[in-house]
Amino acid sequence: MSDNHPIVGWEAETPVPDQHTFNDYLHVKNGRLHMDGLDLTQLFFDKPDEQEFHQVLPSPLEIVYLPRIRRQIRQMNQVFAKAIEELGYDGRFHYTYASKANAAEEVIRTTLGAGAHHEMSSSVDVNIAQIMIHRGLLTPDRFIICNGFKPAGSRYAANILQLRQLHEKLIPVVEELGELPPLLHSGHQFDVGLRLKSYGPNMTETEMVAANSRFGLDPDNFWKAADYIAAAPNLTLKLFHNMVGSQLTDMDDFINRLHPGMEIFARMRQRYPDLSIYDFGGGMPVAMTLDFNFDYPTFARALFTALQDVCRRYNVPVPDVMGEFGRYTTAEHGAHLFKIIAVKENNSKLPWYIIDGSIMSSFPDSWALAEHFIVLPLNHLDKPFQRVQLGGITCDSDDVYPPKPSHSPLYLPVETDDLYLGFFGIGAYQEMLGGVGGSKHCVVPEAYELIVDKGDDGRFQFQVLPGQNEDAVLENLGYIPLVE
Ligand SMILES: Cc1ncc(COP(=O)(O)O)c(C=O)c1O
Repeated sequence: MSDNHPIVGWEAETPVPDQHTFNDYLHVKNGRLHMDGLDLTQLFFDKPDEQEFHQVLPSPLEIVYLPRIRRQIRQMNQVFAKAIEELGYDGRFHYTYASKANAAEEVIRTTLGAGAHHEMSSSVDVNIAQIMIHRGLLTPDRFIICNGFKPAGSRYAANILQLRQLHEKLIPVVEELGELPPLLHSGHQFDVGLRLKSYGPNMTETEMVAANSRFGLDPDNFWKAADYIAAAPNLTLKLFHNMVGSQLTDMDDFINRLHPGMEIFARMRQRYPDLSIYDFGGGMPVAMTLDFNFDYPTFARALFTALQDVCRRYNVPVPDVMGEFGRYTTAEHGAHLFKIIAVKENNSKLPWYIIDGSIMSSFPDSWALAEHFIVLPLNHLDKPFQRVQLGGITCDSDDVYPPKPSHSPLYLPVETDDLYLGFFGIGAYQEMLGGVGGSKHCVVPEAYELIVDKGDDGRFQFQVLPGQNEDAVLENLGYIPLVE
């Protein structure tokens, strides 16, 4: 943060120097923004043969950059492996992808290909897992963690029982006592997880009971559920689920929130020796702005040290550690590119730059939660900048960026001829919340999508998914388009 505002872009009127690096995947060359070495402006123009991509694509355009997902998984696995080695931690680390962050086929294929375990939260997720098992991508060595509400009689509960027949390493995580009967009466052997109620930092058990949270079991019911599981011949208590928040950028706060659960884990481990996985759930932060700073190695060491300490006090072995990484895995692989189609002064203090798409439906968190994302021009970076405000193409007064309560200034080039810009860090949750397909706010059609990967030779590979045309939007809303 600078002056208490998140840094979302270039904050000066001077041009951005050549070779300037905004972060580890965005840098400037010859006045153009490159994403991990890919010149993004070229996508919209005729180009000489030597450039990577030969097609001219329409704006707006969504970029799905798969190497970033692999990089995130590799980085976190290395961080935890190093901490295990340094501390002599006697347990393993299980990187699990929380698929609710982005359930697109190319994303799940990539996380599984990178060795991640798989977490799900609803009934259709089971179909996705089945498809991936049939394709040989979700292999028997991977855990499937079933979170989310799954009461008796629900389709999700029934689908989980079916999935168990296909996959042995499946762990339903029980959110409330009513989720146990389908498992008890399933006739299948199940490893089971229990989710502890979410709560604030350093809470006592009494405070935890009173905390207002719809997730997980309060400590009384948590112990009760563990007893039921222990008494069931077909169930084994294997996993302790201790999720405490999301985008937890304050490391001390993150660890302090986990502490009370760790204490309960260690006491429970004394009684149930099969309890061997401590799952801290989601919450791992990732950069969505340019001032992000979180020390993952220090976090991993602090987490293991806290577990070693509590397990020593209760004289139990340390558990394997699992994290369910949603936002961390996918936020940075997604970008959305737009063209500036109009500049409007309107006697406003700052000129309005209007883009050819909707901010609201492309990244709903920006207006719903005042969330900040990185926004940078793709070209004209070598020209002077001015402070502006950005508006979407819809007629909605909330279709603006930065979000209304924000104090972050936004600077873009004064030159607006053929000016393109990109929003970055939008690959987690935004597409799922805005919806894929369907019809959007102000009937703005969905953008083209460009999936970018890298081959073994290090060269970019491209796949274009066409966006929506007008007829698709109309049909979706029940209209029969006029035949011309
Ligand atoms: C149970 C569970 N696990 C994991 C996640 C992923 O969290 P994040 O995106 O912060 O990594 C969530 C998010 O809501 C969740 O509810």
